[in-house]
Amino acid sequence: MNEEILKGIINEEKADVSLYIAEAELFKNKIVGGKAISETFSDFAAEEAEHIKTLLSLYKKRINVKYRKIIPFKSLRKNLRAHLVREADSVKLYEVFLNSVSGYGEKAAIKKIIENEKKHLSVIKKYLLMLK
Ligand SMILES: [Fe+2]
Repeated sequence: MNEEILKGIINEEKADVSLYIAEAELFKNKIVGGKAISETFSDFAAEEAEHIKTLLSLYKKRINVKYRKIIPFKSLRKNLRAHLVREADSVKLYEVFLNSVSGYGEKAAIKKIIENEKKHLSVIKKYLLMLK
């Protein structure tokens, strides 16, 4: 297991949790259809938090990463574009990490997270298309 990659993943997941929560609040009443998008962002925040829990319970480690807060853009489109990049990067990072682990249980858990990140990516893509 590559601990440096694990730290990087947890760092990005934490940033995503805070970003999705901030966006859920920001767009709830701001735009038409904002409530549904806000709920999606809240769900994604909860799912990213679940990924962190899974990783921490897998490795039973105290992993201290610097908490990095990302401030959302005012525009939904800009936020979605940023997520498009962040979610794609997340899939890549998890795939590299997957190659560094050997246990069957670990591999299965990480594959499940990757599937979830791919789902995030496709929902973000769908929203971006809807905005065009
Ligand atoms: Fe994600």
